[in-house]
Amino acid sequence: MSIDALPAAGWPADRVLATIDRYRSGDANWRDGRTFSLVYHAGDDVKAVLEAAFLRCFSENALNPMAFPSLRQMETEVLGIAAGLLGDPNAVGTLTSGGTESVLMACKTARDWGRAEKGIRHPQLLLPTTAHPAFVKAAHYFDMEPIWVPLRADFRADPAAAAELITDRTVLVVGSSVAYPHGVIDPIPELASLARAHGTLCHVDACLGGMILPFVGVLDAEHGRTLPPWNLAVPGVTSISCDLHKYGYAAKGASLVLYRDRELRKHQFMGHADWPGGLWGSPSAAGTRPGGPIAAAWAVLHHLGQDGYLGLARGSLAAARAMMDGIAAIAGLRVLGAPDATVFAFTMDDGDVYRLGDAMQARGWHLDRQQLPPALHAMITAAHAPHVQAFLADLRRSADEVRGMPAADDGQAAMYGMMGSLPDRGMAAELIVGFLDALDDPGAR
Ligand SMILES: Cc1ncc(COP(=O)(O)O)c(C=O)c1O
Repeated sequence: MSIDALPAAGWPADRVLATIDRYRSGDANWRDGRTFSLVYHAGDDVKAVLEAAFLRCFSENALNPMAFPSLRQMETEVLGIAAGLLGDPNAVGTLTSGGTESVLMACKTARDWGRAEKGIRHPQLLLPTTAHPAFVKAAHYFDMEPIWVPLRADFRADPAAAAELITDRTVLVVGSSVAYPHGVIDPIPELASLARAHGTLCHVDACLGGMILPFVGVLDAEHGRTLPPWNLAVPGVTSISCDLHKYGYAAKGASLVLYRDRELRKHQFMGHADWPGGLWGSPSAAGTRPGGPIAAAWAVLHHLGQDGYLGLARGSLAAARAMMDGIAAIAGLRVLGAPDATVFAFTMDDGDVYRLGDAMQARGWHLDRQQLPPALHAMITAAHAPHVQAFLADLRRSADEVRGMPAADDGQAAMYGMMGSLPDRGMAAELIVGFLDALDDPGAR
């Protein structure tokens, strides 16, 4: 044992904070609209409300529902609002720490439901290839088998293929609203009716789209467009996940999972009556559940209200559509599929799209790289609206620069190209784990 890694004498607060600021100086600058994921910013005034609400409940813990009735009340009210937005005002659920925990809980619930109701001992999850890796994590943690459903040419899950793949061991059919890679809504009615016909469950992953699609639906209706059915209103959908910390603009650490009824939700909960530490009950994966994210989520829903969310959705949608139109107008560039909201991917037909990503990076734009097929990814909020024209101008220059050039042999482009082309996907996954392992290993850097 050694206590030497701790400072011998505690540092004064100003030294602590100055050091954090110095560490932060190399972080991505999300404020100038040049990053396209990770941060959802609804403006400094909204951020101030989030911070104040978060700090009000900074120390409180929702682990014990009796100790802090305020947190229970806020959680219940948030879930009630979400149930309405997500298509079934009678749905019941739980707040979680993020999309991954919501997805884990939906899968664990399906596993335990399958075991209890149908005696399924080796459960399968029917997953479109675009389903978020959180489902793979769930399969891994809960010993379930992922069965991969291919996509149609429009990048949406293929329900005909799903019908071929469903078995007596399928405990959950999954669709996304919207799927992260291409921003499209899977054919939820078809997937849900397939699940229903087989007497099994259907989960919609609306972690990404759940807090913007209700408002995109309103805006689309103003223009005579109809959003495909996407939520708990679709018969046969039995659960849905939705992140408040994405298009809900809440503080990080806020997501939720909702179920059609209480009986189903019970399979998520855990009770242990024999612990010397007391009678134990826990609704989700977390033990301690910090009060800050719950209070901030409650605060932002009430602060923004319908008007606020509609305004942000209008700004985000206008920026995303202007970007997609601008991209389509650049020779050789193509948006993949027909994105339903504000998330999309695009590729380059006459050059290496990863080189294009590097050329944009050199100009200060950080677009996430995708694969299968190679593409660049963008997740647009209203904060991007002022930067659309500058983005398109730099994209045009970057495309001119890399058009016709062969695949890159250096930089991020080469790394992505190499990883995408490795025939042994198990080895590719091992390389990723090796990368994670090396992050805190000074010898490997
Ligand atoms: C569709 C979808 N589901 C789940 C998740 C996981 O969310 P989190 O990163 O909050 O765990 C994401 C994250 O981007 C997502 O896009």
